[in-house]
Amino acid sequence: MSETNTPFYITTAISYPNGRPHIGHAYEAIATDVMARFQRARGRDVRLTTGTDEHGLKMFQTARDQGRPTIELADEMSGYFREMYAKLNISFDHFMRTSDPAHHAASQALWRAMEANGDLYLDRYEGWYSVRDEAFYDESELIAGEGEAKLSPQGTAVEWTVEESWFFRLSAYQDKLLALYETNPDFIRPESRRNEVLRFVEGGLKDLSVSRTSFDWGVPVPGSPGHVMYVWVDALTTYMSALGYPDTDGEWGKYWPADIHMIGKDIVRFHTVYWPAFLMSANLPLPKQVFGHGFLLNRGEKMSKSLGNVVDPMTLADTFGVDPLRYYLLREVSFGQDGTYSAEAIVRAANADLANSFGNLAQRSLSMIFKNLGGELSVIPGNAEADADLLATVKIACASELPREFEKLNFSVGIDAWLRAVFACNQYVDEMAPWALRKTDPERMAAVLMTLFIAVRDLAIAIRPVVPAAADNLLDQMGIAVDARDFAALDDTDWLARVAGSGFTVGQPVPIFPRLELPEGEGE
Ligand code: MSP
Repeated sequence: MSETNTPFYITTAISYPNGRPHIGHAYEAIATDVMARFQRARGRDVRLTTGTDEHGLKMFQTARDQGRPTIELADEMSGYFREMYAKLNISFDHFMRTSDPAHHAASQALWRAMEANGDLYLDRYEGWYSVRDEAFYDESELIAGEGEAKLSPQGTAVEWTVEESWFFRLSAYQDKLLALYETNPDFIRPESRRNEVLRFVEGGLKDLSVSRTSFDWGVPVPGSPGHVMYVWVDALTTYMSALGYPDTDGEWGKYWPADIHMIGKDIVRFHTVYWPAFLMSANLPLPKQVFGHGFLLNRGEKMSKSLGNVVDPMTLADTFGVDPLRYYLLREVSFGQDGTYSAEAIVRAANADLANSFGNLAQRSLSMIFKNLGGELSVIPGNAEADADLLATVKIACASELPREFEKLNFSVGIDAWLRAVFACNQYVDEMAPWALRKTDPERMAAVLMTLFIAVRDLAIAIRPVVPAAADNLLDQMGIAVDARDFAALDDTDWLARVAGSGFTVGQPVPIFPRLELPEGEGE
C-alpha cells in the first residue's frame, strides 16, 4: 500500500466481437473497473484499457456464415461492447479495436523487434487448431470427443491444419520463463493457475506458429506478402497499442509495463507464456501481474448459446440496477474462483446488504439529522466511549481492512470487513436509540447522530469503487465535496467542521438502494 504516487495500469482482456457481450464479459469489466477506481481513490494515476479482438478465423468465419463483411460484424458488435461498458459505469480510458490502423502499426513494430532478435523463422505448420479458442494444440493435449472426434483441452473442436507459417522461437524461452515465475511469484495469480502454467512450461515448449496464409483477415506480416499474424500476437499487443506504442514519449512510456492484466482462467497460457516471451524477445518490460479470474456460471451451469442460458448484462442492469449488480458480483464470488449467478441471489444480496443494511443505515441517520436537528451539522460534542469505539471500528474496516484486501484483489473479503462495520453501526443505532433521546437528552442525541454521520461518510467512501453511482449520490446528499471522496479523506480530521461551517444542511434524504423484487418467472 506504499506506492500511492506511482502510475497504475490495468487492462481487461479484449473480447471477440463475434456476438453480443454476455455476463462473463461484464464480470471481468466490473472487477477491473473496481480495481481501477480503487487505485484512483488511493491517489494513483490510473489507466484502464479495454477493447475488441477483431481478427482471427473465428471472426472471419462468423461473418462469412452471416454473409457479411467481417468489418461490418466487428463494427456492429464492438458497438455493443462499448454500450455495455458505458452502462456498467466502466471507467476505461481507451477502447482499442484491433482493426484500428494504429494497432496494426504497433503489432508490426513488435513483430519487427522480435524478428530483429532472430526469433522468427519461416517453416511449415502441421498440427491441430481450434478456431473457437484460436489456439494451436499439441496432439498430446487433445481429449477424446464423441466417436473418433478429438477435442481441445477446453472441449472445443479442432481441425488439422497444414500451411506455411512464421514461427516464434518459444522453445528458447523455457528457462527464462521459469526464472521469471521463480523470481516473481506474483506474476501469475491465483496460485492454482501459477501451478498449471509451471507444469506446462516445465514440460517443454515447442516453437509457436505465429502467422497464417489461408485467409487474409488480420495484421499483415511486415515484408511477407500473403501472411497475416496469428490473432494472439496482435491481440496481446493491444495492451501496448492502447497506450500509443511504439511511441515512447506518450502514455506508453509513462504507464507501461502494466500492473495487472485481468483475464479469465481459459486464456492464462497466452498471457503468461506467449506474451512475456514475445516481450522478452522484443526487449520490452514485462507486465507485473496476470490475474486469471474464475468463470461465472448460470445457476452452476456453464453458459452457452445451445443451452439457451446466456445472460444479457444489459437486461440484468435494467432489472436490478448497475450498482446492485456490481456489488453482487464482487461480494458473492470469491475472486479467482468460479462463481454462480442467479436472479434470486442478486435480489437477496442487494436487499440484505445494500437496501436493508447500508441503505437503511444511511437513510435512518440522515433522516433523523434532517428531522431532529433541522439538518444542521456540528462537530461532535461529546466523546462517549461507544461513539469512539464505533468510529474506530468503522475506520479500521474502511481505511485498513478493505484497502488491504482490495489491493490483493480479494474483493469479497474486503467487502466482508466493510459489511461488518455496517452491522456494527446498525447495532449502535439500535442500542443508542437516538429517537428516544430527543426529549430526554438532545445533546446526546446530536452526538449520536454526528457519530453516525461520520461513520456513514467513511463507509460510503470505502465502498465507492464498487457502487460508484450510489455512493456519490449519498455523498452528494451529505454535502461532501467531490474532491473529498478518496481514501486520503478518511485521515482528514477537520472535514466535518468544514462541511458544517459551509452553510450546508442535510435535506430530506432520498434512499440510495431501493428494495428489489424478484421478476416474475424467476427463481425456484
Ligand atoms: N479475445 C480473447 C482475449 C484476448 S486478450 C489479449 C478472448 N475473448 S473472449 O471474448 O472469449 O473472452 C474475453 C474475456 O472474458 C476473457 O478474459 C474470458 O476469460 C472472459 N470470459 C468469457 N466467458 C466468461 C465467463 N463465463 N465468466 C467469466 N469470464 C469469462 O478470450
